[in-house]
Amino acid sequence: MKLADRMGRLGTESAFEVLARARALELAGAKVIHLEIGEPDFDTPPHIVAAAGDALAKGHTHYVPAPGIPELRAAVAAFLERTGRLRTSPDRVVVTPGAKPIMFFTILALCQEGDEVLYPDPGFPMYESIAAFAGARPVPVPLREEHGFRMDPDELASLVTDRTRLVILNSPHNPCGSMLTRDDVEAIARVALEHDLVVLSDEVYTAIRYGGDCPSVLQVEGMAERTVLLDGWSKSFAMTGWRLGFGVLPPALVEPVTRLVVNSVSCTSAFSQHAAIAALEGPSAPVEQMVAAFRERRAVIVAGLNRIPGISCLEPQGAFYAFPRVRDLGLPAAELADLLLVRGGVACLPGTAFGAHGEGYLRFSYANSVERIREALEAIELVVGELPPA
Ligand SMILES: Cc1ncc(COP(=O)(O)O)c(C=O)c1O
Repeated sequence: MKLADRMGRLGTESAFEVLARARALELAGAKVIHLEIGEPDFDTPPHIVAAAGDALAKGHTHYVPAPGIPELRAAVAAFLERTGRLRTSPDRVVVTPGAKPIMFFTILALCQEGDEVLYPDPGFPMYESIAAFAGARPVPVPLREEHGFRMDPDELASLVTDRTRLVILNSPHNPCGSMLTRDDVEAIARVALEHDLVVLSDEVYTAIRYGGDCPSVLQVEGMAERTVLLDGWSKSFAMTGWRLGFGVLPPALVEPVTRLVVNSVSCTSAFSQHAAIAALEGPSAPVEQMVAAFRERRAVIVAGLNRIPGISCLEPQGAFYAFPRVRDLGLPAAELADLLLVRGGVACLPGTAFGAHGEGYLRFSYANSVERIREALEAIELVVGELPPA
């Protein structure tokens, strides 16, 4: 069957492919430690699950307004204000099934042939894929280890042309675990203001950070009018399978993005939205406990990786990924990831799954127990020890 040309420009997320491969090995009897998956290994906190049950029992099983139920839009705005992130109004909040649709719809609404989209490389693979699908030209902004894997505002500025339309930021960052500093976001905001660019600020990992604040471009004067905030419940509240995300949009984008919601999914699951309110308004202890567990695992995996000859790993500041440099081992990241899976029973992703600038790196998700992480480190050390000298 002949597909539309645009399908040739649409990529995929190789995490799901590696997961399928690992599961096939498991079915054939192999033991695999899963460090490839980008989701918290914790269950959704019980008060959130209970709120969904209540909502179902009360009959919240019908279509609801496309941009989200008013109570949830208000709860999102109140949550952002209470947590010191942003003062906004509920009518700028759009709720979607997962945060991904905010990315997809924002890019579709804004970008077309002739436009350029600047995005971090390494970075979440959908940025490039969706920009290309929309007909725009994705332009990678390299994130360099020497610069702490943070986007360099000067390098960003050097890539802006008169066709640049959108800049995508992600902090805390997947896969690098880096966070932009206050100086970074101010300098990036200056570039956006000077060149009249829209910014998509992907902050899905903001609740999972190990230092202080995670500054956002949105906090810079004048930026709220040109920035889409993308966030959701998947990572913060261990709710990946619920499919719940939100965007806070400049006024001019609310109606077009809502129209894309109407044309694609109609609305986000009604009873889930009641659970989403419980997540925002309920106790924060479960999130704090989850972050504390990630912090402990981070210490184990970073120290363990740095003990293996030929591997070095910066300490991630947020999210739950370690992104070690493996270049000195002398083989392409994809080959190394494959060897680790087949010989060591450790599933991880090559840095190249996140763009060409990820060559020489691997991504390990530490959303797994300390015990499994220690086993994985032992297995990695054995596989690496058997490699011929680089
Ligand atoms: C950087 C980044 N943005 C967005 C998403 C998508 O989140 P959701 O599952 O809520 O659609 C992910 C998920 O892996 C991510 O890593």
